Amino acid sequence: MASKAAVRSPVTMAALAVLAAGCQSAPHSTPAERAAVSLPASVPVATTPHNWPDIKSHADPLSFVTRSFDLDLDVDFEKRQLRGTATLELVRVDPNSRELVLDTRDLTIDSVKTAPAGSDDFRKARFVLGDRDDELGSALRIAMPRDAARVRIAYATSPQASGLQWLQPSQTAGKRLPFLFSQAQALHARSMAPLQDTPWIRATYTATLRVPAGLVAVMAAEGDAANHRGQTTFRFRMPQPIPSYLLALAVGDLEFQAIGPRTGVWAEPSVLAAAAWEFGDAEAMMTKAEALYGPYRWGRYDVLVLPPSFPYGGMENPRLTFMTPTVIAGDKSLVSVLAHELAHSWSGNLVTNATWRDGWLNEGFTTYFERRIMETVYGEERARLEWGVGQQDLRLALAELKPEEAWQSVLAPDLSLHKDEGGAAVAYEKGALFLYQLERRFGRPQLDAFLQGWFDRHAFTSVTTPQFAAELQDGLMKQYPGRIDAAFLANWIDDAGLPADAELMQSDTLARVDAQRMRWEQGSLATDALQTTAWTVQEWLHFLNRATRPQPVVRLQELDRRFQLTESRNAEIAHAWFRLALASGYPGLEPALQSYLMAIGRMKLIEPLYEDLLKSPQDAAFARRVYAQARPGYHAIAQRRLDRLMQEVP
Ligand code: BES
Ligand code: ZN
Repeated sequence: MASKAAVRSPVTMAALAVLAAGCQSAPHSTPAERAAVSLPASVPVATTPHNWPDIKSHADPLSFVTRSFDLDLDVDFEKRQLRGTATLELVRVDPNSRELVLDTRDLTIDSVKTAPAGSDDFRKARFVLGDRDDELGSALRIAMPRDAARVRIAYATSPQASGLQWLQPSQTAGKRLPFLFSQAQALHARSMAPLQDTPWIRATYTATLRVPAGLVAVMAAEGDAANHRGQTTFRFRMPQPIPSYLLALAVGDLEFQAIGPRTGVWAEPSVLAAAAWEFGDAEAMMTKAEALYGPYRWGRYDVLVLPPSFPYGGMENPRLTFMTPTVIAGDKSLVSVLAHELAHSWSGNLVTNATWRDGWLNEGFTTYFERRIMETVYGEERARLEWGVGQQDLRLALAELKPEEAWQSVLAPDLSLHKDEGGAAVAYEKGALFLYQLERRFGRPQLDAFLQGWFDRHAFTSVTTPQFAAELQDGLMKQYPGRIDAAFLANWIDDAGLPADAELMQSDTLARVDAQRMRWEQGSLATDALQTTAWTVQEWLHFLNRATRPQPVVRLQELDRRFQLTESRNAEIAHAWFRLALASGYPGLEPALQSYLMAIGRMKLIEPLYEDLLKSPQDAAFARRVYAQARPGYHAIAQRRLDRLMQEVP
């Protein structure tokens, strides 16, 4: 890490300039070749100290970059272990580099060999596995002979690998066969394979997975035509260069059903039909997304439905979005998650945040894009409702920040000062609102043209926040002077919280929900008189999320009796209801809450509930009891977060 302190030295600047120039002077190079040097094309403007290069990785992209890699792995459910080799093809950026540093976490390294480019003459290499850092893992330092350009590492993963979850048959829908899935974002690819685990660097890859008979392997990549149920060897290739956090695999009792010519669903047999129906608009979303921001560049777009312990709503793994089953509500009410993950095919997967500090370039752009897709597929009204729910999430997230956590409400927070990233709603919703301001100030067609250009210019490369600011200044701001000024930019990019003149999305429908709610809260409207028959899920969420707390228990009991909220089959409505009920001391919630917390591992849905419970000593005891029971079923990422939460509260 010491070398990184010197990153702003003239020497490194020069090295970068050379890289950038090399990058641009090869217009006919393939995406893979360009990716080999996919560092930001310009040196970031040093307006604010920036986490640059990536402080969350041991890799040094100024010495070597991975151009492609191959994984050849046995999937061993008994030992809960991936075992085999990773072979990396490298470009030596600095001819004097003699050491390659890879990221690992809890990997057992059996041997390391190197060979010259194009040669299979692998020779044993010296290597050192560094001390384990809880957040970053262990640096694997490999001595690279002068002519070495290939590295082959024989290794095995740990049963506790942070990026893998090995499920028993009882944790699956079918209850018959085990299941394995990965989650590499943000720093977990290194627990699956020794890699340069930073979004600065992109590589193509190939992979072979050997699985027990009867199971099917999928990856976020192109499956070989010969892959079939009944076989034990599955092969994949990813011809487009990806950052390591998009490496993904799953093994289970999986079947496929087509939705459209380019889209389909992978799921366990018993969920397949429901999933294919719920996500049936994927093809339409794709077509609309392409009309907005240019061609889809990844070939197919499929969705993999995971068991309920999947810790996220969705994960934008290229060609194969990983999806929580809690989105399958039976009425397409929660498919904004699908629009979101699809949108990442542009914002995030095609044009990638160079460091995790620039996360809003992935998530904020994607949230804006998601709402544009929702608007074209389901209409303006639906999009306004989604904006409304998101804005409320943001309001709540900002309100919950303590003064010393104000840094989290900055668009691109300095991660070097703080260990844990929080305030997710900020990158998502503040980021999306920032783009919405640009839409309002410059006009929709103008912003769209700019964004199309952004995706095009930076396709298959990584970008930083100062780079975005610089291009905005050179582009829209020059073209249309007077619409926004430097102060506006600084407010949105550098300041905490929401700028005072932020223009929010308005919805008449949600305003009517508010009006009813206020009359209901004041007692001038009886619970039986609430007009809700035409309410969408988003209106319900708005009603529950905005309700003043605490509410009188009797009013909530009336509400529950009339609308069966405790029993809601919609995971988001149940979540919002539980939060309101907990804040109001609602009695008798425990059985339903317990089964919810036992059944679902999606952090966004369960973490706030544990937080709420921990606020009162009585509920805290219940929370700890449930957590002790539920914990073994949660993903390692969720376990880690919730362990910390449980420790924070005495
Ligand atoms: N890329 C994220 C998931 C993620 C974020 C994983 C940070 C690891 C670290 C994904 O695209 C996402 O944002 N998922 C959301 C759904 C979305 C509709 C807000 C989620 O998981 O809830
Ligand atoms: Zn996202």
